[in-house]
Amino acid sequence: MAETIVAWPTLIGVERLALPSAMNANLRTAALEVEQRARPPGDHRHFSNTVDNHTDIFPERFRGDLDTLWGQVAQAAQLYLQHAFRLPVSYPLSWSLCILVARPGDRLPAHSHPQRDLFAAYYPHIDPPADDPTGMHGGELRFIDNRGWGRKWVNRNPSLFDSAYLSLRPEPGMLVIAPGYALHETNPFSGPGLRVTYGFFMNVLMTKEYAA
Ligand SMILES: [Fe+2]
Repeated sequence: MAETIVAWPTLIGVERLALPSAMNANLRTAALEVEQRARPPGDHRHFSNTVDNHTDIFPERFRGDLDTLWGQVAQAAQLYLQHAFRLPVSYPLSWSLCILVARPGDRLPAHSHPQRDLFAAYYPHIDPPADDPTGMHGGELRFIDNRGWGRKWVNRNPSLFDSAYLSLRPEPGMLVIAPGYALHETNPFSGPGLRVTYGFFMNVLMTKEYAA
């Protein structure tokens, strides 16, 4: 059950998943292995607006952890769809996975995922900001108003700071769900250490075949 669905004009679901810590640790290890397989060593660029699909290169020995995570994400997504979009029945969801490992200074510029109905970000691991007692370690996930006037505003202003209508500071165990059209960005992550994000990109298979 989503704890909160907030933020006009786009409804965003925020939930905390209670995965065992050993499972989150496995997801962290798997993410680092995926990163090694997906990119040459030393290449830590995460600036693509496309969605890499890491499902096929996910390490087989952690597949059970991924399946468990996806089960919880799918359940949360169904509840989100019922609450935010009033879908009367649960339709099957197709999904792909994109894993991001953020290091200090990494950010994602504003983008959306218009080919997807929904996306979800889950954070199995974020190194605690040991040198920053305030916890202001950056890396906020910021949602930006992408209605017509908003986009004009965004184009004229490279700094989108004032246009975000929701800014979430990721915490370990947090799951955020949003429509694919929602414009969002990630502030630079100041660490120290790593932040691991599992991005799930979903389409609702709302076909006649599945209509109840
Ligand atoms: Fe994104």
